[in-house]
Amino acid sequence: MNKKILVTGGTGYIGSHTVVELQTAGYEVVIVDNLSNSSEDVIDGIEKITHIRPDFVKLDCNDKERLSALFRNHAGIRGIIHFAASKAVGESVHKPLEYYRNNIVTLLNLLDLMPEYKADGIVFSSSCTVYGQPDVLPVTEDAPVKPALSPYGNTKQIDEEILRDAIHAGLPFKSIILRYFNPIGAHPSAEIGELPNGVPQNLVPFVTQTAMGIRGELSVFGNDYDTPDGSCIRDYINVTDLARAHVIAMDRMLENKSEAPLEIFNLGTGRGVSVLELINAFESATGVKVPYRIVGRREGDIEKVWANPRHANQTLGWTAAETMEDTLLSAWKWQKKLRERNIQ
Ligand code: NAD
Ligand code: WQD
Repeated sequence: MNKKILVTGGTGYIGSHTVVELQTAGYEVVIVDNLSNSSEDVIDGIEKITHIRPDFVKLDCNDKERLSALFRNHAGIRGIIHFAASKAVGESVHKPLEYYRNNIVTLLNLLDLMPEYKADGIVFSSSCTVYGQPDVLPVTEDAPVKPALSPYGNTKQIDEEILRDAIHAGLPFKSIILRYFNPIGAHPSAEIGELPNGVPQNLVPFVTQTAMGIRGELSVFGNDYDTPDGSCIRDYINVTDLARAHVIAMDRMLENKSEAPLEIFNLGTGRGVSVLELINAFESATGVKVPYRIVGRREGDIEKVWANPRHANQTLGWTAAETMEDTLLSAWKWQKKLRERNIQ
């Protein structure tokens, strides 16, 4: 079977780990990325791990003509994994139009081109952010989508609706929507990992930078939530585990393992971990102290959310396999590698 796949945003954090897993599984990968939040060096990292250099085209997915030319020049692309998007929640509040354009027009362009070039399916990167604060935990895929708290969150909801409407209208492709919980960690080789831009907004990169001494102390945003230790609870999912799920989803679409043209899966561990528990877990895994201070709540934070991953477990045969300890060790190994390379 021809296994040629287009991965948009493939030099980014989740995309690069997914390209590794796709190539390992025998897929031929074409990456497009405009490098707005990543670097071409990532291709070297992927090649070091897999001994295969993926095809890379620097391209903005907003540019439909160039995207069309790419499909022409790489005939036989059967599936797409669409990671390319802007993802900084806070920034989206200040630059809503950029976010709506980048996160919606790119999807529309791909969906427009898929029938013309006979691509069979698209895997879409969605987020647990669509659930807001769920009424019932752990949250299942049929839980109501809550009004978005940011333009970023809204783009994910709108993209999901676009896919639903396109499939409902009978457009000739399948789609799998993957709702990620909180992806963390790096490839165990430390050849690829997360490269936050400036001061990290996400917890784990801030923890590793604080442990490295790049940041003086970590601010813990609130200890007065209705949780056992008062800090917020999330479902932290290892990025390689997450990446593996994309391979299974792509196999499922291309091998017609499901009749359903559109499916949605939560990708999480099913375990809720508080901010303070995560800090403790990092300290015991690495033996390195993370100075922290409790500060006020961060605006827009959800109190607690974790996945019910049963649908993915049973239907895809996928489970999150990595332990929190190994995942945090991989994040730490990556941070040390960045230091060696004088990057951070
Ligand atoms: P990332 O920023 O590391 O990767 C996204 C990649 O897309 C970057 O390499 C960027 O340069 C590229 N890109 C952005 N706009 C583009 C455009 N118009 N054309 C071509 N390339 C473009 O982000 P990530 O963490 O790997 O996230 C991947 C996807 O998963 C995104 O859609 C994100 O919204 C979604 N997601 C991420 C998280 C998370 O916490 N990291 C959680 C849920 C969902
Ligand atoms: C995790 C916890 C913070 C930093 C975001 C997006 C979401 C999704 C994943 C894309 C929270 C606390 C954090 C710090 C802290 N992305 N924290 N000090 O907010 O769950 O989700 O990324 O779809 O849409 O909103 O992730 O890593 O920012 O925070 O105490 O310096 O860590 O309050 O409880 P979040 P996060």
